Amino acid sequence: MTNIESKIVEIRKLTYAYPDGTMALDGIDLDIFEGENVGLVGPNGAGKSTLLLHLNGILRTDSAVSIFGLTPEGSNLPLIRSMVGIVFQDPDDQLFMPTSFDDVAFGPLSMGLGADEVRARVEKALLDVSMSDASDRIAHHMSVGEKRRVSIASVLSMNPRLLILDEPSANLDPDGRRSLIELLKGMNVTKIIAGHDLELVNELCQRVIRIDAGKIVSDTLINA
Ligand SMILES: Nc1ncnc2c1ncn2[C@@H]1O[C@H](COP(=O)(O)OP(=O)(O)O)[C@@H](O)[C@H]1O
Ligand SMILES: [Mg+2]
Repeated sequence: MTNIESKIVEIRKLTYAYPDGTMALDGIDLDIFEGENVGLVGPNGAGKSTLLLHLNGILRTDSAVSIFGLTPEGSNLPLIRSMVGIVFQDPDDQLFMPTSFDDVAFGPLSMGLGADEVRARVEKALLDVSMSDASDRIAHHMSVGEKRRVSIASVLSMNPRLLILDEPSANLDPDGRRSLIELLKGMNVTKIIAGHDLELVNELCQRVIRIDAGKIVSDTLINA
């Protein structure tokens, strides 16, 4: 389904330089449609993470970025952030509460949901990533694979319509990577998956965007 109604990301001529002057994105044009699984690949420093951070307003410029028809700024941000879930590359950037339960509850609580709804969402999200037993554990003591699962749960508990994963297989052992791929395969939500793991992208995505030096150099349908 790639009709105009289902366009959820529209970016036109996005150029971004960090405050120190590093040019990270240089004229990005990008549309993402509901239901797509998009791989975002390219070398270190290509601009992948910088691009992802523009999709929920963590970074912004005056360039034209529209997410679910909204500009990611001001009073639109809470709604955009409830619909766009970003799983950061480093789980330590995501998990900061005393227990996994609290980490996964953080989003729903900040949406203002009631205690029963929050609990139900946390239980479902932890179940969905096979981490129900970790509810009372602190992320600090978990393996990278377990932390990644709880990070994903902390985003799933918002019921996102767009799930963004930045280098999801980084630092995972082969078993952890395999079970992550199977987990993501079973998730019926629009996804953008950034990274170097071309096999993972090939298994999970139908479209691959290659970015280099802040520019999109190819945008290809695969597995069609
Ligand atoms: N906080 C920052 N301050 C300055 N430059 C940055 C910062 N984060 C990333 N960069 C630079 O921006 C460019 C794009 O980086 P990034 O988006 O992290 O690439 P990727 O995720 O593809 O590895 C690189 O040149 C990187 O060094
Ligand atoms: Mg990155």
